[in-house]
Amino acid sequence: MNQPDGHSRICLCLTGETIQEDLETYRRYARFSDMAEIRADFLLPEDMRRLDRVPSLLPVPLILTIRRASDGGVYDGAESDRLELIRRALAGGFAFVDLEEDLGQPPLEREARSRGTRVIRSFHESSGPDPGMEARIRGLKRHPTDLPKAAVRVDSTAELCSLVDLYRRLEGWEKILVGMGPASLSLRILACSLGSYLTFSSAAKQQAAEGHTDPETLDTVYRARALSRSTRLFAIAGNPVLHSRSPRIHNTGFASLGMDAVYFPVQAESIEGFLRLAGTLGIRGASVTLPFKQAVIPHLASVEVDVPRIGACNTLVRSRGGWHGANTDVSGFMEPLAAASADADLSRLRATVIGAGGAARSAVYALRRTGCEVLVLNRTPARAEELAAELGCRWAALDRRGLSAMAESSDIVVQTTSVGMSPDDRSDPVEGYAFQGHEIAYDIVYTPPMTRFLLRAKSAGCRIIQGGDMLLCQAMHQFRLFTGKEFPEADRARLRTELVSSAGDATAGDASADDATIV
Ligand code: ATR
Repeated sequence: MNQPDGHSRICLCLTGETIQEDLETYRRYARFSDMAEIRADFLLPEDMRRLDRVPSLLPVPLILTIRRASDGGVYDGAESDRLELIRRALAGGFAFVDLEEDLGQPPLEREARSRGTRVIRSFHESSGPDPGMEARIRGLKRHPTDLPKAAVRVDSTAELCSLVDLYRRLEGWEKILVGMGPASLSLRILACSLGSYLTFSSAAKQQAAEGHTDPETLDTVYRARALSRSTRLFAIAGNPVLHSRSPRIHNTGFASLGMDAVYFPVQAESIEGFLRLAGTLGIRGASVTLPFKQAVIPHLASVEVDVPRIGACNTLVRSRGGWHGANTDVSGFMEPLAAASADADLSRLRATVIGAGGAARSAVYALRRTGCEVLVLNRTPARAEELAAELGCRWAALDRRGLSAMAESSDIVVQTTSVGMSPDDRSDPVEGYAFQGHEIAYDIVYTPPMTRFLLRAKSAGCRIIQGGDMLLCQAMHQFRLFTGKEFPEADRARLRTELVSSAGDATAGDASADDATIV
């Protein structure tokens, strides 16, 4: 913890239409929440008038907030009515009341203080942190018991860096400082360790503000309450990346081994932006995913020998001279394939790889290394041609002629494009190809666990390999590079059950499958 009082707090924002709904949401997350904010602007009018009852119903410190539409809330009534609602609710004994920066209401503040309610003096900024923000935040503290709050929209890694800088300039000073927007997730996880009094969260699928995560995920996946300035930081850089399962994998390993470390997603607009943020935060190691696996290579100070040959890097480890780059996709790809083809001599087999991006490069490289003959099919033929020339294989466009060529090169068929990934899970990049049953079908997409491509192959009698297996295998190698330790075997088995569910569980077309990204 890096705060004056040494505590980290997860605050659950309650946005129900009724007090009863808020109570039920709170009960669901009680174990993971230290505080709650009643966003009374969401309540129906009759429940808004009963706000004074709420503090006696919830056993944690409560923030009373009636947020105006102009500040991102939904209250659109008269301002005098809002202030009267707040004044009446204060009688119930809230721990905090949120009053906006521009509100000149000394009687309301005095009333709050006389009841032992602390004033959170807040502003919400829809553009990124600016140079004047430090002074503006300091100016929010008009009384010794006031708790300043700034919620600042961050949309880029440059703005994330500015927000980290702001945390540092306000170090040791009590405040709530949080980022808003989907790109802010990393700093919402780290908020308390960077010096915010609390970090906000919302019930799953009920985000009070863009970028909120649910308290259970914050507490159990990211261990947000236990993070401190000495916590070792690891990340995954990509775009899109916010639904990646890699945080679940690496953080499970850290927790089991009792390591003070956390791994979080950074949705970056460029790899350069991510690397700047990594420098600012002191990130020690990172996974690199779509679309940066090739673009990261010029930024590496040193590489493992196969990285330039593959032309893709998915693992960064900070070394004295800069970033060291490795590729764990190759071994992550080969291990499940070797297991599935135990009886076959891979060097005698013919394979087709669909796609010619960063993930395809690792698959083609791995297959070529075993001596397999490889055909690359890609929507953009020039990319297939370039990859084929570099790694010594045949290529064709992903069209009818390409699919006929695939029929002749189909002992192993590897799907490396994002086609078929949730929410686009009814798609199949080789819809026109009829599986014959002898193929080993390998999809590196892992959500849904059973893609349409795999489902078709399985129904034709093919052996299949699910993307979750490759994800786990490459992550095991990454974990060793990040920590120097082996990933705990029991966790690996448990995670495999989660990621590689058998047919009958989440399958292509299952609308409940989560979004995710190839890692
Ligand atoms: P990654 O690092 O995950 O491989 P990438 O480098 O962006 O990501 O490559 C994505 C691959 O998916 C490419 O082969 C891409 O084809 P193009 O080179 O033609 O872009 C392929 N891909 C993406 N969307 C596709 C679609 N709708 N149909 C066919 N192929 C697609």
